[in-house]
Amino acid sequence: MTTTRGLRDRDEPITMLTAYDALTARIVQDCGIDMVLVGDSMGTTVLGYDDTLPVTVAEVKTRTAAVARGVDDALVVADMPFLSVGVDERGTVRNAGEMLKDAGADAVKLESGPHTVEITERLTQLGIPVMAHLGLTPQHVNQLGGYTRQGTTTEAAEEIVALARDHEAAGAFSLVLEHVPANVASRVTETLEIPTIGIGAGPDCDGQVLVGTDVMGLSAEIPPFAKQFGDVKREMTEAVESYREAVESGAFPAAEHSHTEPDLDLDDSQ
Ligand code: KIV
Repeated sequence: MTTTRGLRDRDEPITMLTAYDALTARIVQDCGIDMVLVGDSMGTTVLGYDDTLPVTVAEVKTRTAAVARGVDDALVVADMPFLSVGVDERGTVRNAGEMLKDAGADAVKLESGPHTVEITERLTQLGIPVMAHLGLTPQHVNQLGGYTRQGTTTEAAEEIVALARDHEAAGAFSLVLEHVPANVASRVTETLEIPTIGIGAGPDCDGQVLVGTDVMGLSAEIPPFAKQFGDVKREMTEAVESYREAVESGAFPAAEHSHTEPDLDLDDSQ
């Protein structure tokens, strides 16, 4: 069973993938993935929003509860949606706490910055394990002007390293680094004791995370740093088309899919 503490002692790279339902989470876990992230990427991947900003606490809670019911070995990390942390302490603690108490998550992930150091410390003190997230933080898309590479100047890279240290000192058990140069991720990884999990951050992180629908081939488009490893969309399309054709042609349901009750006395007049 994967635990937040056990992650540090791993020899192999750590694997994390997003999932948003029990069925997919079970498959992901049974493939040996260490952590299932119930990412707010659900906004664009499965909920039909244009970005992650509209995703609500209730949506992440419902999806996290489903994922937690689907797995028993993998660590379940619930992603805190836009404005669910940091507005005030009471709301932050309630929203993050409910992910563990009501939904069954093992930990929460916060898109991080200078404002989340104190929050990370408070949640950790209260027994809520926090995964930090630096580099590209998609909830800041309106300030970043797009889903652009981060840490590309020396000053910005140094800020990421400093913030990573601050979040480790505040108690974060792990840190996601998104869309940063490989040498910045490498520097952060050698600086920290806690494991780094990269996405678009090169090969030197302690682990990797991708969005499940990108990996499986269900996304309309994928970011330049992601990789499609399968073509589930084609399989789904073929299955659904075959079903439609079979219904329209009368091939389905066949005799073996139906049963007749010989003793029924059905009145023809009704
Ligand atoms: O929401 C998400 O899926 C994420 C990963 C891309 C790290 O935050």
